Amino acid sequence: MWTGLADRFADGAYASAKGRVRTSVMHHQLMEHLPPPPATVLDVGGGAGHQSLPLARVGYQVTLLDPSPAMLDKARARLERLPDDVRRRVTFIQAGGENAEAAVGGQLFAAVLCHGVLGYLDRPDDVVEQLCRRTEAGGLVSIMAGNAHAAAVRPALERRWSDALAAFDTDREIGVLGLPTRGDTVEGLSGLLRGYGVEPVRWYGIWLFVDWLDLAGVAVDPGDEERLASLAAVELEAGRRDPYRQLSRIFHLVGRKVQQSPTPGPAGRR
Ligand SMILES: C[S@@+](CC[C@H](N)C(=O)[O-])C[C@H]1O[C@@H](n2cnc3c(N)ncnc32)[C@H](O)[C@@H]1O
Repeated sequence: MWTGLADRFADGAYASAKGRVRTSVMHHQLMEHLPPPPATVLDVGGGAGHQSLPLARVGYQVTLLDPSPAMLDKARARLERLPDDVRRRVTFIQAGGENAEAAVGGQLFAAVLCHGVLGYLDRPDDVVEQLCRRTEAGGLVSIMAGNAHAAAVRPALERRWSDALAAFDTDREIGVLGLPTRGDTVEGLSGLLRGYGVEPVRWYGIWLFVDWLDLAGVAVDPGDEERLASLAAVELEAGRRDPYRQLSRIFHLVGRKVQQSPTPGPAGRR
């Protein structure tokens, strides 16, 4: 499925103002919680490495796991352009998040990321369980997901009014990449995390104004660095506080693995 989308996602979406704001805001939010480098980071569904290669650049030991050979090729090509010491800090593994434990040989990580992945799965449970199980005691779980509570925003800004009305009561849509996607909620994922021994500590919105401008067809120049930095600063602030963060179509939930052994998951599984 991702074979035909790798170019569009890795080169197109991330080259836009929205993509650049997303990477920058997420990086700042992550750095508020990550232990200092050279801590280990597992990026589940890491794609072309837009979030985890910058972490390798600042000294983290990164394992990027993804089931798509096309996305992994993109990530390898991007890594090739980085200095040798950064390249030595990155490992690629081809596997789905559901199989993370076997794929990493049982290794535990100081931080486990899963950004923009759960929405493509029918249910988040199995992958969330793996994220929690791969996190060491005291370590961080970072999930970025689509906000089911804000599902009417996109069709409304695209002036698709009957779709917007229907969106209030659904968590499914055709996403911006043209694939069916499913939204999650902070409450729902927080409950899942707790079931696997991870205590939610903070949640953020990722973008708001740049997304709305884009959906309404207003161009924002991704090459105007100064303006982009000001925009990212506004988004960072909006993402921290209500009511703004509640209206963001994407949220970032951060949890910490409790020190004692985790309680059994919601389905009683281990
Ligand atoms: C929208 S991209 C996000 C990539 C990256 N996390 C980022 O934020 O830039 C979604 C990624 O999820 C991966 N993916 C799809 N199904 C998956 C699964 N079951 N487990 C892990 N990753 C999966 C895809 O191959 C793709 O690279």
